[in-house]
Amino acid sequence: MVEIPESLADSLRRAGHVMVLTGAGCSAESGVPTFREAQTGLWAQYEPEKLATPGAFQQDPQLVWEWYVWRRALVAQASPNPGHYALAALAALVPKLTLATQNVDGLHQAAGSREVLELHGSISRILCFDCGAPDDGWRDDQGKAPLCAVCGGRLRPDVVWFGENLPRNVLVAAGAAAADCDLFLSVGTSAVVQPAASLPVAAKESGAVVVEINPNPTPLTSLVDYHLEGPSGELLPALVAAMRQGDQG
Ligand code: OAD
Repeated sequence: MVEIPESLADSLRRAGHVMVLTGAGCSAESGVPTFREAQTGLWAQYEPEKLATPGAFQQDPQLVWEWYVWRRALVAQASPNPGHYALAALAALVPKLTLATQNVDGLHQAAGSREVLELHGSISRILCFDCGAPDDGWRDDQGKAPLCAVCGGRLRPDVVWFGENLPRNVLVAAGAAAADCDLFLSVGTSAVVQPAASLPVAAKESGAVVVEINPNPTPLTSLVDYHLEGPSGELLPALVAAMRQGDQG
């Protein structure tokens, strides 16, 4: 049984605006591998940081495309876990909730969360590397990396690669929410990739209660008000249950 401090449950009950930032750890219990932990299988020999760059794609588009075909297959088999569902439920329990994710797997939306700020895009959307036109005629079973119907350029996933900028409107909305929220939950992220990693720091500077849920310490841990050590698939439902318990009196 996971212990949620009563003072934390109380802060959550009182918060007018809760912001949540999730990372790959939130999807780990759904079977989607994280980025910086030991990888297994076919793609274990590659470092994500070396595949997820515009340069890597230009050098070997087929390799990078196939990596995303593999990742889309993993995601297609994955279902939201209790952590995703707890966050969707939390949205109905607080006056305002902003959910920002670094994940590109769509599992928050599959669990029922709405208006998710996808900081790093989505692997299920495809666009042209050259002209930016969106494409919906691609297929993952066609083997060869597909080309753009508009300009003949290479198609790529609509995700943010290392060295690329985050979608500006999404980043602005996330920054504003971090500055405005009363309670910030950092869930399943190693808190090392910028600019997402600066969001909880900005929230703390603006006076929010900052909570981290992660089985491991991160660079954020020393700054937070509460570090809940363990998997988000257990701790998020426990947190929501603790909040509701007090509500019922
Ligand atoms: P990482 O792989 O860097 O970190 C995953 C974090 O999840 C680690 O801190 C783990 O300790 C934690 N974790 C593992 N299992 C967990 C569980 N069951 N519950 C909760 N936490 C768990 O993933 P991100 O922080 O998401 O960017 O990485 C950030 C970005 O760097 C990614 O979006 C991606 C990546 O390279 C791009 O592709 C641009």
